[in-house]
Amino acid sequence: MTLRRKESQKLLGRLAKVESPDVTFLGERFPIVMKKARGLSVTDVDNNRYLDFTACFGVLALGHGSAIVRSALRRQSAKLIHGMGDVHPTREKIKLLELLAGVVPFANAKITLGLSGSDAVDTAIKTAMIATNRNRFLSFSGGYHGLTLGPLALNSRQHFRKDFEFWIEHKATILPFPESDISPEYVCANVSPTSEELKNRGFTSVSEAFSVLEKELRTQAYAAVVFEPLQGRAGEREWPTGFLKKCESLAQQTGTLLIADEIFSGFGRTGKFWAHEHHGITPNIICAGKALGGGLPLSACIADCMDAWGKSTGEARHTSTFLGHPLACAVGYDVVSEICRTLPLIQERCQKLDVELQAFVRLCRQMGIAERHPFVVRGKGYMRGLWFFREAPGFAAELSEKLLEKGFFTLPSGECGDVLSLTPPLTTTMAHFRKLFRVVASLL
Ligand SMILES: Cc1ncc(COP(=O)(O)O)c(C=O)c1O
Repeated sequence: MTLRRKESQKLLGRLAKVESPDVTFLGERFPIVMKKARGLSVTDVDNNRYLDFTACFGVLALGHGSAIVRSALRRQSAKLIHGMGDVHPTREKIKLLELLAGVVPFANAKITLGLSGSDAVDTAIKTAMIATNRNRFLSFSGGYHGLTLGPLALNSRQHFRKDFEFWIEHKATILPFPESDISPEYVCANVSPTSEELKNRGFTSVSEAFSVLEKELRTQAYAAVVFEPLQGRAGEREWPTGFLKKCESLAQQTGTLLIADEIFSGFGRTGKFWAHEHHGITPNIICAGKALGGGLPLSACIADCMDAWGKSTGEARHTSTFLGHPLACAVGYDVVSEICRTLPLIQERCQKLDVELQAFVRLCRQMGIAERHPFVVRGKGYMRGLWFFREAPGFAAELSEKLLEKGFFTLPSGECGDVLSLTPPLTTTMAHFRKLFRVVASLL
């Protein structure tokens, strides 16, 4: 398929003149300009059609233009579009907060809403500081928690940090990320990645990573450890078995809170409602976003220690104009209710996808791809990445461009763009996946 590009190129030319230069990447063959979408199917302004295997950064759990989202929007927009943040609340905000309090493992769950994932992490940082009376944080290499000045300090990548060190320095210690377990049925290579390859791609041995974590926690200087239960932007990186459990026990011994950033991994994406459940741990604070708003800007910081903020004295110490926006709350309530209702079905699909991915790996081995472009399938459920561990940086970015040409939205992930990231709507069927896998195999 050759993409028609005339209209996209015209619009991108206009965009280049008015948008700050470091926002939208404008390449030769990437991006296109989106016009409309339904389910997995996206149409661009030149009427090319694509299947979306990104769910727009994992946001559209129910797919594009879901009937549930459209109906909540219609209903709510006829009643009340904008409310009054932290002053006169709405029924929609109260219902959503009650629902969220019921889906976390906290006896005293209380919530502050936000508009973006970064907002939720900002609130978590402030909450942990108040609750512990400490002001430094631990996070992990590869972790992505947003780019506003609070979460930026937790981010290890120089690409994001440089120019802002003055503001963020000394706020957080970034710990090495431990080597994950790799199961052989997900390895399309003649040998698994070597220790040298793992080291070059940002992994540290489990024992070394744990001893650094322990040394820092024992100082009792940190308010919280912030982590993604499954790292997303770092390339769908999983934790080795038992690591987070040991981290939880040490955190408890040293009076340090655990902040699980479930902004990408929450709401069923990994096959459990929250990804931290795979590790048998209970964090103190959960940050949620992306899928929560069903496509509207909405996030939440949910904690069992929110009472540390103390009683309101009349003027909120942490709020924003659009907090608890009625449209987003109405949609969020219906989307989260639908995910709760269909969780068993989502879990069944995740299991089927495991089988499908293993078949894809076997097919690639038969086609000789293990020798040409060895890869490992990482992640869980509908948060997967194909890690091309022996390729030059940018390999997955190039593959993603070629897939766009063939009618598929995918994204590269990993610090050096060596992981092809697949985070489609949770409604994606195995027939859709097979279609994609056939094209990926033929391109490889
Ligand atoms: C795990 C995680 N945390 C935080 C964020 C930041 O969210 P936002 O871009 O909505 O500020 C992201 C965004 O990709 C994320 O994946």
